[in-house]
Amino acid sequence: MVVAGTPLASSPPVPRRRGRSIAARLFWAVGVPASLIVVTLGALAWRTTTTAVQDSLSRELRATAQAAASSVSVRSASTLIEGSEDTAAYRRTVARLRQIASFTGSSRVLLVDERERVLADHEGAIAIGTPAPRVALDRVELASARAGTAAVSAPFTLDDGRRFLAAYARLPAPQDELAVADGERGFAAIVLVLEAPAVALDATNATARRVAVLVALAVLLVAASSLVVARTITRPLLRLATEAERLGTGELQQALAMPAGDDEVARLGATLESMRKALVDRDAERQMMLAGIAHEVRNPLGGMELFSGLLEEGLVELPAERVGAPVKDELVNQAQRVRKELRYLTGVVNDFLAFARDTPLQREPVDVAALLDDVATLCRREGAARLVVRCETTGAVELDRNRIKQALLNVVENALAATPPEGVVTLGATQGDGRLLLTVEDSGKGMDAATLERIWTPFFTTKEKGSGLGLPLVRKLARDHGGDAEVSSTPGAGTRVTLALRLV
Ligand SMILES: Nc1ncnc2c1ncn2[C@@H]1O[C@H](COP(=O)(O)OP(=O)(O)O)[C@@H](O)[C@H]1O
Ligand SMILES: [Mg+2]
Repeated sequence: MVVAGTPLASSPPVPRRRGRSIAARLFWAVGVPASLIVVTLGALAWRTTTTAVQDSLSRELRATAQAAASSVSVRSASTLIEGSEDTAAYRRTVARLRQIASFTGSSRVLLVDERERVLADHEGAIAIGTPAPRVALDRVELASARAGTAAVSAPFTLDDGRRFLAAYARLPAPQDELAVADGERGFAAIVLVLEAPAVALDATNATARRVAVLVALAVLLVAASSLVVARTITRPLLRLATEAERLGTGELQQALAMPAGDDEVARLGATLESMRKALVDRDAERQMMLAGIAHEVRNPLGGMELFSGLLEEGLVELPAERVGAPVKDELVNQAQRVRKELRYLTGVVNDFLAFARDTPLQREPVDVAALLDDVATLCRREGAARLVVRCETTGAVELDRNRIKQALLNVVENALAATPPEGVVTLGATQGDGRLLLTVEDSGKGMDAATLERIWTPFFTTKEKGSGLGLPLVRKLARDHGGDAEVSSTPGAGTRVTLALRLV
């Protein structure tokens, strides 16, 4: 089934295109780059701070390790071999390491020999010769320390989540040995390992977390503000679009709801409003002109119809012997044709005047059932389809009786013209939702989509003697009542015309 007419409910006739909205575009053009900049700056600030803190920590720790290594007696340390834990040299060394640990705040201080085994630790808890813990991970730093340059490892995290740095420094050969040629050769490369908690790094991490929260907030703020800006732009635009759609459906009387302010959107609103006014003026002008012409044509037409009637009567009464019977018949026939054409022309002009007239509604209480019966009685005739009234509403409603009657007469005449004598035309009425629905349904020939598309266009007709003003007038009368008209049709099966009228 094909349907014509603006929908009865006020759904927008223009389909909403789901393109990229202004909000989305603004978000991508401003929100996303701004967020990226904020995130990048945050990350950069975090990296710079961490690197600076780590560098300064490493430098300090290297110096500390170097100084601590100088305070350990390399002579005593060199004597430590597996199983010599109860020697005085071991106890002295452990005591020194403990001192270093407490002075430097280190969590562990070790001496490691060339084979990466422990010689002593600050607690005296690790047996001599035990493989040194963690040292295998810092081979590069260890090698550097052995070669004489103290080194500090990358930060590492212990089980408790705290971060540490390990510093490596070689114990220097004793001063008196240096005097001896090649004296150092007598001492193996013993390295002091100092593991110190990197408190400052933990602090930078806490700061980094705070910065991350701030960055996240900033990103949210940027996104939210681009959304707000977009909305302040799009909301009045969407409102204007709705108004423009209203103008598009021909509802020109009500002034535009103007956007506030004096920006571009307000200018657009003002332009639309002046366009609406120009359209209203133009419509009024055109209507007045056409109605004027129609009016001027109707008066002489009335006269012509009258005189052609008199002419016909005169010709009928003319004695046949005066002109001869065939000539008289021909003259009568021609006069009848002139009168018929004039009647048709009067019908068109009347339809047009009804269409062009713009007078206020004359609402009065109307008994809908009686109105339908009235219309049916006026339209019933021999040789036409059967007319049935099925009124499902009782009581009176406020309508302009004449206009609605005229609309129904037009629709029923169309239905009868399209329906064969054995068919049925049903007039119906239902009420609900604050609306009165008047329907005319026929079992006639129906319309194809191409016809249906054009039925609301004034002067469109498929009839030889049609004005093409019937349905446009029906729609106008329905709209005068705050409603609308809709037609649905199936070719070969029938047509249904609905007038939806708003009740007051
Ligand atoms: N009930 C109907 N069944 C089939 N066609 C219809 C029906 N009503 C209207 N039409 C079509 O719509 C056209 C326009 O109708 P209308 O505006 O009343 O003008 P007119 O009746 O003067 O042709 C008709 O010519 C006809 O083709
Ligand atoms: Mg008609």
